[in-house]
Amino acid sequence: MSDAPKLGFAPFAPPSKGVLVVFCDDGLKLGPAARKVLDGDLVRRAAAAERFTGKSGSALEIVLPAGLKASRLVVIGIGKESEAKDLTKLGGIAMGKISSQAASATIFAELPSGAMKPDQVGDLALGARLRAYAFDRYKTKRKEGEERPPKANVTIAVADAGAARKAWAAREAVAEGVVIARDLVNEPANVLYPEEFARRTAALKKLGVAVEVLDEKAMKKLGMNALLGVGQGSARESRLVVMRWNHGRRGSAPVAFIGKGVCFDTGGISIKPAQGMEDMKGDMAGAACVVGLMHALAARKARVNAVGAIGLVENMPGPDAQRPGDIVKSMSGQTIEIINTDAEGRLVLGDVLWYVGKRFKPKFMVNLATLTGAIMVALGQEHAGLFSNDDKLAERLTKAGLATGERVWRMPLGPEYDKLIDSKFADVKNTGGRNAGSITAAQFLQRFVDKTPWAHLDIAGTGMNSPQTDINKSWASGFGVRLLDRLVADDYE
Ligand code: BES
Ligand code: MN
Ligand code: ZN
Repeated sequence: MSDAPKLGFAPFAPPSKGVLVVFCDDGLKLGPAARKVLDGDLVRRAAAAERFTGKSGSALEIVLPAGLKASRLVVIGIGKESEAKDLTKLGGIAMGKISSQAASATIFAELPSGAMKPDQVGDLALGARLRAYAFDRYKTKRKEGEERPPKANVTIAVADAGAARKAWAAREAVAEGVVIARDLVNEPANVLYPEEFARRTAALKKLGVAVEVLDEKAMKKLGMNALLGVGQGSARESRLVVMRWNHGRRGSAPVAFIGKGVCFDTGGISIKPAQGMEDMKGDMAGAACVVGLMHALAARKARVNAVGAIGLVENMPGPDAQRPGDIVKSMSGQTIEIINTDAEGRLVLGDVLWYVGKRFKPKFMVNLATLTGAIMVALGQEHAGLFSNDDKLAERLTKAGLATGERVWRMPLGPEYDKLIDSKFADVKNTGGRNAGSITAAQFLQRFVDKTPWAHLDIAGTGMNSPQTDINKSWASGFGVRLLDRLVADDYE
């Protein structure tokens, strides 16, 4: 894990050193605690000199602010208070203004109308923590002026420190989960191959999660030839990891999360072009999310029975690799004609979905996968594609997406699309042609789901190569951890 800033909570008081961060609206109105310790005229005069108006996302910095012991004062604009609803984003912005040189910083958790409520403080802290994430374990040098995450002691000044700490506890668990997912996705494939990935999931045991690792022999016995076919060209062995957190009602059916864990996707014999292929180290973002989510649920002791299952493989060309035209028999008994060895994620997931459905009979299954380039053509990087056989589950996921900012957009399924993957030689083929590429991929998955409510999230656009946001500056986003934690918290605990 990268060096996290130390986050603490304390009652409102002017800091004796370091940076002080406060918020103001577009009338330059500060919160009550800030008004008490700051000379209002100081901010007004500095604002006039800098043409700072307090509009959302802008900031005013004052060095050696008169009347304060702090070395720097940062005033962050929130625009209209009634529109400043996203406290997580605000926490990210605040953390972004604390420079790497600062050894300590204090953020006043208040809005012009008064102190933030404990839940708002928790969200603010979450944003600060996520913004501070950086994956720099392989950097031995640093260019001058390069942004470095603050290792500062960050104190969040609040009205009720005890209540804030309580609100933070659950969010800290989720933040850790996001960080775990980001670390896994950022890690290169020479380091993080299936066996190593499986080894890292063992850390969940300390939290009380049962972790089972199935090797190739065990998967062979189960008949998982679709998954195994993808991995057969690689010198690295494939793995299936099953994680269980049972903290819900005894005997009640679990909720289940399934992740695509292609540790590297060369495309196999249907090899990808060189340009951008390095990004395919992130083709396990679905699996990374499931591990981060299991961490979050266990660390916050969620009252739920949850199963996480990830199929870990490496898709390589080579003398043993699967060929186009090959036919494999999946665990479900359905035979699959391989048209394109680069459509490998669905082969892995087909077996894992079937396995989880039969073994656990879950309340629902949600799978996450960097499945198709086509989903980026459709939705860009702003929404994950959502496919579901269940309106209620789709609705809940959509709602959780809006609440967390990890947004999903529902796409269609239907028998007309399903026809496109009928095969001449086998029960199904693994690609459906150029049209509706994300949908035919989802139709393929659906053939491995019985009656269980199921949703597939295509996160090819949202899980990696992420746009820079106020709460993420890293290549990997950890997409899905906050979304699914929220789904569980709102609807299944
Ligand atoms: N892992 C890729 C999808 C992907 C592409 C993820 C870009 C993230 C960024 C997947 O295995 C794949 O190769 N899909 C093919 C499917 C095609 C062969 C039917 C694709 O999208 O081109
Ligand atoms: Mn592929
Ligand atoms: Zn892939």
